[in-house]
Amino acid sequence: MLLCLAYLIYSSSVAAGAQSGIEECKFQFAWDRWNCPERALQLSSHGGLRSGKESIGYHYWDPLTTANRETAFVHAISSAGVMYTLTRNCSLGDFDNCGCDDSRNGQLGGQGWLWGGCSDNVGFGEAISKQFVDALETGQDARAAMNLHNNEAGRKAVKGTMKRTCKCHGVSGSCTTQTCWLQLPEFREVGTYLKERYHKALKVDLLQGAGNSAASRGAIAETFSSISKKELVHLEDSPDYCLENKTLGLLGTEGRECLKRGKALSKWEKRSCRRLCGDCGLAVEERRAEMVSSCNCKFHWCCAVRCEQCRKRVTKYFCIRKEKRERSGGGGASRKLKRKL
Ligand SMILES: *[C@@H]1O[C@H](CO)[C@@H](O)[C@H](O)[C@H]1NC(C)=O
Ligand SMILES: *[C@@H]1O[C@H](CO)[C@@H](O)[C@H](O)[C@H]1NC(C)=O
Repeated sequence: MLLCLAYLIYSSSVAAGAQSGIEECKFQFAWDRWNCPERALQLSSHGGLRSGKESIGYHYWDPLTTANRETAFVHAISSAGVMYTLTRNCSLGDFDNCGCDDSRNGQLGGQGWLWGGCSDNVGFGEAISKQFVDALETGQDARAAMNLHNNEAGRKAVKGTMKRTCKCHGVSGSCTTQTCWLQLPEFREVGTYLKERYHKALKVDLLQGAGNSAASRGAIAETFSSISKKELVHLEDSPDYCLENKTLGLLGTEGRECLKRGKALSKWEKRSCRRLCGDCGLAVEERRAEMVSSCNCKFHWCCAVRCEQCRKRVTKYFCIRKEKRERSGGGGASRKLKRKL
């Protein structure tokens, strides 16, 4: 009954949070071989297909196939997204039973500052998101333990990236004392933090011989409790994401776009053609396109906006199979595409 009520109150927020986790996953992995495809987004190792789950944004597919580094990231970012959104909703006054965390207000926080103001209530977000997201894990095996660990790592990431914001007090802003509160960062920052954790994810060797006996459950619990809750953990190695594998639902990198030149590219983006094409045995094809978009818009009294049509040449790069490139004449004969924005 209580859970039913909670479901009604929080489910839209939980769904929005899971969705923002998925979007962040797609952003963080846009230039990786694995790019957070929809199919990867199942969240339960045992797919307990209770009705209603679909409606809060979880996607299920073969539940027993993956327990790799990418699975770990999906769990962490989704769980972080749910906690983040619940916390933000709470600060915005979207829920009757929850508001700022002012439990420490008035207490000394550190040298020269006191707790004060409206801290984002992560405690609330943490508790509710735990109820929703961790409840999807009904198993007691290593995979369930892994998922729970990564859910927790996601919540730790939200907590760990919060920022202290302060306000000065004192005669004419002399700042003799400050009051400070904790604020959520932009969700992007949580995503970037978890991507770093993803690169350092720990592999736990538990799949062999781990049955469902009390002894092996004990061993599982012991193993996971010895790993910091901040770390992402996985049990299996990742498949080769270069290759298409229909059984695993992988598309491979053929046809993917990559980035080459550009002022504002990060190192990771600059190497994307090598990572997605070259290192996967594919060639890079250059395609030129002309983009038409509205520009130099002017407001005319009254009331119309008139724009010019600007044409911009853009060059894009795609991974193609080497044989195809040779047939099309070594990549020199770029196809012309005309696209309207
Ligand atoms: C919580 O916030 C999300 C996104 O900001 C929004 O879509 C959702 O409706 C909010 N939930 C409630 C209960 O206001
Ligand atoms: C797809 O992956 C499975 C599991 O790793 C492997 O056994 C199979 O050979 C792969 N298939 C192809 C076509 O590569």
